[in-house]
Amino acid sequence: MSTTDEIKSRIDIVDLVSEAGVKLRHTGKNYTGFCPFHDNKHSPAFVVWPETGTWRCFGQCNEGGDIFKFVMKREGLDFKEALNKLALRAGVEVPAFSKEAPEQKEIYDTLRRLLEDALIYYRGHLFNNPTLLNYLHEKRGLSDSTIETFGLGYAPAGYDNLLKHFAPKGYTEQDLIEAGLLTVRESDADAASPNSQLATRIYDKFRNRIMIPIRDEQGRMAGFGARIVDPNDVPKFLNSPETPIFSKGKILYGLDRARKPIRAADQAVIVEGYLDVIALHQAGYENVVSPMGTALTEDQLRLLKKFTRRIVLALDPDVAGQKAVLRGLDAARSAMDKEGELGFDARGLLKHEARLQADLRVASLPDGLDPDEIVARDKDEWKRVIESAKPIIEHVMETLALDRNLNDGKVVTEIANQVLPLIRDLPNSEERDFFAQKLARFLKVEDRLFVDRPAPSARVKRAWAREESQVAMIPVVVSVASGQRVESYLVAVLFRRPELLYRLDRRLEESGLAALTIEDFEYTDHQIVMRLVREAVEQVERDHHFYVSEHLPEALQGLGRDLLTQTEKLDPLDDRLIEELQRLIQKLRRERANLGLTQTRYLQEESQQNGDPRASLYQQQVLQLTNLIRIIDQANKKLTLRRQT
Ligand code: UTP
Ligand code: MN
Repeated sequence: MSTTDEIKSRIDIVDLVSEAGVKLRHTGKNYTGFCPFHDNKHSPAFVVWPETGTWRCFGQCNEGGDIFKFVMKREGLDFKEALNKLALRAGVEVPAFSKEAPEQKEIYDTLRRLLEDALIYYRGHLFNNPTLLNYLHEKRGLSDSTIETFGLGYAPAGYDNLLKHFAPKGYTEQDLIEAGLLTVRESDADAASPNSQLATRIYDKFRNRIMIPIRDEQGRMAGFGARIVDPNDVPKFLNSPETPIFSKGKILYGLDRARKPIRAADQAVIVEGYLDVIALHQAGYENVVSPMGTALTEDQLRLLKKFTRRIVLALDPDVAGQKAVLRGLDAARSAMDKEGELGFDARGLLKHEARLQADLRVASLPDGLDPDEIVARDKDEWKRVIESAKPIIEHVMETLALDRNLNDGKVVTEIANQVLPLIRDLPNSEERDFFAQKLARFLKVEDRLFVDRPAPSARVKRAWAREESQVAMIPVVVSVASGQRVESYLVAVLFRRPELLYRLDRRLEESGLAALTIEDFEYTDHQIVMRLVREAVEQVERDHHFYVSEHLPEALQGLGRDLLTQTEKLDPLDDRLIEELQRLIQKLRRERANLGLTQTRYLQEESQQNGDPRASLYQQQVLQLTNLIRIIDQANKKLTLRRQT
C-alpha cells in the first residue's frame, strides 16, 4: 500500500471534518453538514462519505476531494504540507526516498546478524542446562524439534556474559546496545544537582531467562521475548526494547511460520502468549500468532490482512469481559504502552474491523485455561473453541450477560445501554439492523425499543419525513467505493502510457463530453499524477512516462510503484485500451452526476421551502446535471453499438 493510501485508510474523514468545526449529521451511509468553505447556513450542502473517505460541497463551491484536499483547502497548505500533517496524525512515516535506504539496510542487516548470533549463543546455553530442558519437555510439553524450530534458548544469569562472548567476535558494545541485548542505565546519585556525576552502567538485559526469538513476518530476526525461570523474578516477560528493527506494535509473534498456514486456512487466530503460539503450532494448529504483551494494534491487523481477512481473537474471558466494553479508545491506547496487558476494546476493534474490512471474531477460552493447557488436555477441543467464535458485538453481549438475570428489567437496560452505542457506530446500516435485532432477541425485548426516539411531535414527524426522504435519495455508496478503484486504474494506465491522453480526449469530445480534467479525480494523489500526465504530453524534451515519474513528489513514489504493478498486463491494442478508458471515465462521471443530482435536488427543494434565494441556483445545477447525464447515456450507447459492430 502506498503511503498516501495508508494515511487515507487510517484517518476517519468524519473525525477530521468534525474536528475542523463542521457539525455533521448522520444520514444513511453519509454525513451532511454546512460547507465550511462558503458561508451558506441555510442548506446542508456539504456531504461526507466515510466509506470512500471523500467529501463534496454540492452548493456554491461545487468542489470535493479526499482528506488531503480538505486539509489543504481548510488550512491553506500545499500537498506536501498536508501530507506531513496527516501522516503525523495517522502515525505513518513518510518515507524519505533514495537517500538513506541502502545505508540503513546495511545497519539493519548488521543488527539482524548479531541477533542470529545471539540466538545461537542462547541456544547453546539451553542445551547445557538439563533442568531447564526438562522443564520445557515435562512441564510445557515441548518436543526437541519444537524447541529447535522456534529457536528457544537460555540467557544465563550474570551481568556481563554477552560482552565477554561477543567482543572477541568483533562486535562492539555499541552494536550490542543497539540490538537491545545490553541495557544502559544512567544511575544518577543526586538528580537535583546540576553537577551530579552520572554513573553509566551497561549490562546484559536478559539474565536467567528462557529466550524466545522474535522474527518479523519475513522471518528476519527482530528481537527476543524472555520468560523468567525463577518464579520470583519480575517482570514475568521481558521483551527487547524498541529498536530500528523491533517494534512491538508492528510485529506479530509467529507470523513468519504462520503466514502460509493462515493463507491456506483463510483464517488467522490471535492468542496472548508466546508459549501458547508454540504449543498450538506443535499441536498442528499453525495459523496462530500473538502480540507481545500489548493491545492489538491496527498495524498488526493490517499485517494479518495481507494473508486473510478472517481473524479470530482467542481471549481469556475475564480479560475480555471485565475490561471490555466500557473502556474507550483512549484507554486502549494508553494500555498499549503498558507491558503485560492485552486490552480488549470492543469499540476500537470494531473500528479497525470496519476500516480494514476484516471479519473479526472472538472466541472465549473455557474454564480459565490458556490455549496451551487446552491442547494439552484435548487437541480437538481447540478446533471447537475456534469454531465457536462470535462477532465482536455478539461476544460483548454474551459476556455482559454472563451470570446476570435477564428477567430483570434493570439488567436488560444496563446491557442494552452498553451495547447499543457499539451498534450505532457500525458504518453499515444492514449490520446495524442485524445486530439491533440480535440484541433484542437476546435480551428478549422487542427491537422497536431500540429505536431510541421519544414520542414524536408533529413538527418532529415532519422533520423525520424529510430526513427519511433524504436518506432514501442518497444513492448507494458502494458504487463510489468502486469509483476509487476505477480512478486508480485510470491513473495507472495514464501513468504508464501518458501519450494515450490526447486520443482519449478526442474520443470524449467526439461524444460531446469534456476532455479529461483533474476534476474527474477525487483523490489528491491521483490529481497530482494526472496533472503531471497532462504536463508530460505538453512537453517534448522527455519521454512522457519518464517525465511523470521524474516529477512525482517523493511521497508519491510508492504510489508510482503501485500504479506500475497494476498495469503490468495491458490490452496490447491501443484502440481497445482507449475505449476501455473512455467507458470507465463515462462510468465515473455518470455516477458522480447521479450523486450530484439527488443531492442538488434535495437542496433545491429544501431551499425552496425555506425561501432561500439559492433555490434558482440549485435548479440550474439540476438542469445541467440532467443534461450531462443524458449526454453520457448517449455516449455509452454509442460505445456499446460500436462494440457490437
Ligand atoms: P501470560 O502471563 O499469560 O504468559 O502472558 P504465558 O505466555 O501464558 O506464559 P506461561 O504459560 O505462564 O509460561 C501472556 C503474554 O503477555 C505478555 C507476553 O507476551 C506473554 O506471552 N507479557 C506477560 C508481557 O509482555 N509481560 C509480562 O510481564 C507478562
Ligand atoms: Mn500460559
